[in-house]
Amino acid sequence: MSVKVLFVCLGNICRSPTAEAVFRHQAQAAGLEQRIHIDSAGTADWHRGKSPDSRSCQFASRRGYDLEPLRARQVSVDDFHDFDLILAMDHDNLAHLRQMQPTNARAELDLFLKRYGLPRDAVPDPYYGGDEGFEDVLDLVEQASAALLNEIKARL
Ligand code: 4NP
Repeated sequence: MSVKVLFVCLGNICRSPTAEAVFRHQAQAAGLEQRIHIDSAGTADWHRGKSPDSRSCQFASRRGYDLEPLRARQVSVDDFHDFDLILAMDHDNLAHLRQMQPTNARAELDLFLKRYGLPRDAVPDPYYGGDEGFEDVLDLVEQASAALLNEIKARL
């Protein structure tokens, strides 16, 4: 048995690729990379085919995460049939996903941080802010990813 997880933000160049790389790193460290399929996407198509934001790459790289191979894509209705779990980074992302969710979706849709009871519900968009926003994204995503891994370990 395997589990398929999709992280979704707005542009798929800051928060969700960070979550993809951090969670993949944790899954690999737990020896579960063959059993967890991990991907990310954006609700918007503005950055389709582009590399993650250079600041996201830089701050993630300092903590040992490699975002360089990732390329942005837009979330699609097919994703609701392909994935088991779709995790939105903020309330706007979740609202957008709810609107496109087909009635016979396979995927469970949730807000990433809220699902795991973190003090904040949403991962703030760092795109127009300073360096601290990118560190904040990493801190939040690392904590929630650890909880997600525990949930999946119990399912597998
Ligand atoms: P993300 O951040 O949703 O975390 O990838 C953003 C990236 C780009 C834009 C907004 C947010 N943008 O306005 O282009």
